Amino acid sequence: MTKIFVTRPIPDRGIRLLTDTFGPDAVIVSPNDRPITRDELLQAVPGADALLPILTDTVDAAVMDAAGPQLRVVANYAVGFNNVDVAAATARGILVTNTPGVLTETTADLAWSLLMAAARKISESERYLRAGRWTSWGPQLFLGVDIHGQTMGIYGIGRIGMAIARRAKGFGMRVLYHDVNRLAPSSELELGVAYADKPAFLAESDFISIHVPLLPETRHAFGEPEFRAMKNSAVLVNTSRGPVVDEAALARALKTRQIFAAGLDVYEDEPAVHPGLLECENAVLVPHIGSATFETRSKMAHMAAQNIVARLKGQTPPNPVNPEVL
Ligand code: DGY
Repeated sequence: MTKIFVTRPIPDRGIRLLTDTFGPDAVIVSPNDRPITRDELLQAVPGADALLPILTDTVDAAVMDAAGPQLRVVANYAVGFNNVDVAAATARGILVTNTPGVLTETTADLAWSLLMAAARKISESERYLRAGRWTSWGPQLFLGVDIHGQTMGIYGIGRIGMAIARRAKGFGMRVLYHDVNRLAPSSELELGVAYADKPAFLAESDFISIHVPLLPETRHAFGEPEFRAMKNSAVLVNTSRGPVVDEAALARALKTRQIFAAGLDVYEDEPAVHPGLLECENAVLVPHIGSATFETRSKMAHMAAQNIVARLKGQTPPNPVNPEVL
């Protein structure tokens, strides 16, 4: 009998597709709405044909081996898949899939929310109001930086980076991007973006939004030298993966006003947040909610389930990360 193990309750739409296809007994969902522990995971996976983990689960060779040789697919419930050892999966003929596309616009919305909140001191001024400290309108109370007409810098021009660029148009912004891969001139024209090398990108951007995957080359892509190269009025937004930013260096840059503000959805060691950042009034900090809308999380569940259904039925899944195993 087929066994599919889901490491944490996810929206019904995905579970329904799995139970409708394979029967209710085939699908085992961890009963706890918290990250599964390593021991629980290792105990739950033996005999599984498919795993549906979330981004907080480390799915490495040990987990795959504990599952057994019948394991055919690891359908990650995220677009990012740095929690899965893809090389180990490939070596075992296990397909890894992710959930791209469905969360693009939702994550871009959140990045813009963070950008606007950081630029206009929304969190800081709300804390002030709620603390009962607001006594009068003030000509110099909570001055922020303008967004419209400024230069937007997009670090990583994939699907989400492009969605950021489309939104920037509405704010009348000049849009620069930096990426290891340059877009074709026709795409640059269509999106209204211009490529800049890293020094020019850092020096000219008023806002920088990060949209690169976590890779050895992108770890700490933003650290002390980058903050030194940015404008003192600049705002940094990260909705990609925490370790792309050196949090200790960012906390220092925010404290010393080397940059104006930051908006973060992701952290180096989630759910821990660097204590220095927690002390910074000019940091807007939210708990990794980039894709957290009812619609998107439901679409992600359905997409992860579709990948499992296709793989276990011998079809080509829509979102393979390591298509070479197909
Ligand atoms: C992802 O999918 O990688 C996000 O970080 C969570 O939706």
